[in-house]
Amino acid sequence: MEQVQYLDWNNSIQILNKAYETGLFVLIIGPKGTGKTSLVRDFAKNKNVNLESINFSLRTRESHLIGTKTLTDGTVSFDEGVLVKSMKAGNMLYLDEINSAEADVLLRLDEALDDRRQISLKESTGEVIKAKENWFVVATINPLTHSGTKELPPQILSRFPVRIRLEYPPENIELEIVKKHVSGEHESEIIQAIKLANTLRQAAAVEELFYSPSLRETIAFGKLVDKEMSPKDAAKIVFGNVYTQWGNIEYQKVSDIITSMFGN
Ligand SMILES: Nc1ncnc2c1ncn2[C@@H]1O[C@H](COP(=O)(O)OP(=O)(O)O)[C@@H](O)[C@H]1O
Ligand SMILES: [Mg+2]
Repeated sequence: MEQVQYLDWNNSIQILNKAYETGLFVLIIGPKGTGKTSLVRDFAKNKNVNLESINFSLRTRESHLIGTKTLTDGTVSFDEGVLVKSMKAGNMLYLDEINSAEADVLLRLDEALDDRRQISLKESTGEVIKAKENWFVVATINPLTHSGTKELPPQILSRFPVRIRLEYPPENIELEIVKKHVSGEHESEIIQAIKLANTLRQAAAVEELFYSPSLRETIAFGKLVDKEMSPKDAAKIVFGNVYTQWGNIEYQKVSDIITSMFGN
């Protein structure tokens, strides 16, 4: 997928720049779909540094970070994981959704993130890998309301002293962002969809609804109306139908809101 240029609406690039120059690691906190990954990708691209990424889940193992021994034609070699690779090369390392990781994985990561910036390869030769000078780490976490996320232990948090908070943008900014991804026609319909998204986000924030739509949804809406789908249908498909997952009452609540905003 082609990379759309990131719209830096709250000065995050400047903060990232200062963190990069001082070698302070960064934590980005915000709900899904608020632009965390795009921000980091865009930053790395502009800095012209290579980016190693890992997306954490309950299934992420230490070996994904460190590496695994492999045997080919009778020769044992070590297939380096993203952490070791990025430390050796002095690349940028992106730890996505770090609060989905298991405790043992975080512990191993902590070894590398402390002030010595080194890790011992007990899996292989026991060699100690020291990170290159310009090694830089950015991690993201979702707020605790997201399912599957855990509280990040304080000692890991403290490895990331620069914290950027990303929220859903103000309406006019969200419109600008969506327009970067779509044709630019149908502006009034997109504004309406952003209003709908914000209504649903507010309801989700006070736990009246189970799901909070992100910029992914407002962008998807824009793309569908670009393809001549009626705004009402696009709203139902992108914003409404998902609530069926929590039953008919939840779905009906949202359907009524859509009807009131987009007509029958
Ligand atoms: N500031 C922005 N500028 C351009 N596109 C954005 C911006 N914020 C979000 N997006 C778009 O919204 C979608 C979700 O963003 P993403 O970076 O994947 O969010 P997250 O990593 O927080 O889940 C992507 O299509 C992304 O391009
Ligand atoms: Mg992401």
